[in-house]
Amino acid sequence: MNNQNIVVSIDVGTTKIFVIVSEIDRETEKFKILGYGMSASNGGLNKGRVVDIDRAAKDIESAIKAAEIMSSVPITKAFVGIAGRHIESLESSGIITLSENEPREITKADKRRLEDIAENKVVPVERTVIHRIGYNYRIDDSGIIKNPIGMRGCKLEGTVHVVTGMINTIDALIKSVNKLSIEVEDVVLEPYASGKAVLTDTEKRTGVILVDIGGGTTDIAVFKNEKLIYTSVLPLGGEYFTSDIATLLGIETRVADNLKKDFSINNEDYKMDEVVEIPNYDRYTEKKEVEVKHLKEIIDSRTEEILENIEKKIEASGVKHQVYNGIVFTGGSSKIAGLKERAEKYFDMPVRFAVPIKKDGLSDQMLKPEDATGVGLLLYGVEKSLEGKVISLNEEEQEGKKSMFDVIIGKLKKGFDIFFSDSE
Ligand SMILES: Nc1ncnc2c1ncn2[C@@H]1O[C@H](COP(=O)(O)OP(=O)(O)OP(=O)(O)O)[C@@H](O)[C@H]1O
Ligand SMILES: [Mg+2]
Repeated sequence: MNNQNIVVSIDVGTTKIFVIVSEIDRETEKFKILGYGMSASNGGLNKGRVVDIDRAAKDIESAIKAAEIMSSVPITKAFVGIAGRHIESLESSGIITLSENEPREITKADKRRLEDIAENKVVPVERTVIHRIGYNYRIDDSGIIKNPIGMRGCKLEGTVHVVTGMINTIDALIKSVNKLSIEVEDVVLEPYASGKAVLTDTEKRTGVILVDIGGGTTDIAVFKNEKLIYTSVLPLGGEYFTSDIATLLGIETRVADNLKKDFSINNEDYKMDEVVEIPNYDRYTEKKEVEVKHLKEIIDSRTEEILENIEKKIEASGVKHQVYNGIVFTGGSSKIAGLKERAEKYFDMPVRFAVPIKKDGLSDQMLKPEDATGVGLLLYGVEKSLEGKVISLNEEEQEGKKSMFDVIIGKLKKGFDIFFSDSE
């Protein structure tokens, strides 16, 4: 088998690692799945973030091994998802004096100085700016203009949208993958990947909000003209439901997670005035009876809280007016009981619940909401490999004698020019 035609994706999520192996056919430009593997994230990762490189490599290795066995392909390179939680969009405004009395012509340097001032107000030292877009410029309290360069004035104001990343955590993830003798071909922002899997071209063109509710976080991404125009992360996900159920009902976490899932999948079997018996977890714990009403109350209040937070982020994003296609939910926790009904009532725009769109080559086992990121990463990898433009990050590091840190920053900057649009 020609190694050049193998495309592998790795989604490192808070609760699971998902690896897909595929083969592309350069003549027909099609692909087929050869195998996949999944393992639980534990130890090396905390909320999708590498906290111990050696242990993270072990976690990832289990999913890699399973995928290798199923596909009979040794994995040597992969496209890796970068969790959106390292990436934050920030907004800030600034003002500079150009002249005390006589208006003068505004230069590129003035515009840059204004944007630097606005940026420095909000970006903490541990973050690196990946992308910056200036807008809402005003000269001497006039109306908003698109580009102030070449115009005359005494005072210049403006707003910047800054995309920042915590590069060290991305670096640790790449090192964990490299430890398994696997080269990283490219890093892809996870919410971008999820959008690629579940959104239609029309949605991405006319404006849509993607909400991926995973285990540890809820990732929000807004697409317009086929580009990402906003992204943000809420530290709330499925684990939040589970830990509350466990604490408030006094049951073991794993039992609480199963109860939450069963309540969501077989909801009509649960009667509000009944109790469910929770079998003892081990010989040290006792059987427990849980009121269905109580369980539902816990789930409903967490759901309400997540929806409230999503709404706040959308309102604060400043891009809501560009969205004509409503909200699309995906991710494992989008299956939580009652979310669909509540979300439909909550938002004053259309709401859709999505799984990866069926495409030639994708297997039916990968059409679940929790597969969105993994499938999107694979689709991205297939597209890039068919274009034949892939140089792995590790190759770039060696060839250019650059540090991995510089390679990642360069890559993300380039990626964001593709992902983010500069104008409305
Ligand atoms: N049927 C279900 N009902 C409710 N919740 C579910 C169901 N199935 C899975 N979940 C929850 O979905 C979460 C996992 O979703 P997913 O696989 O999308 O997350 P992840 O990618 O591991 O995490 P993240 O994206 O936050 O890093 C878990 O918290 C799990 O309990
Ligand atoms: Mg995920």
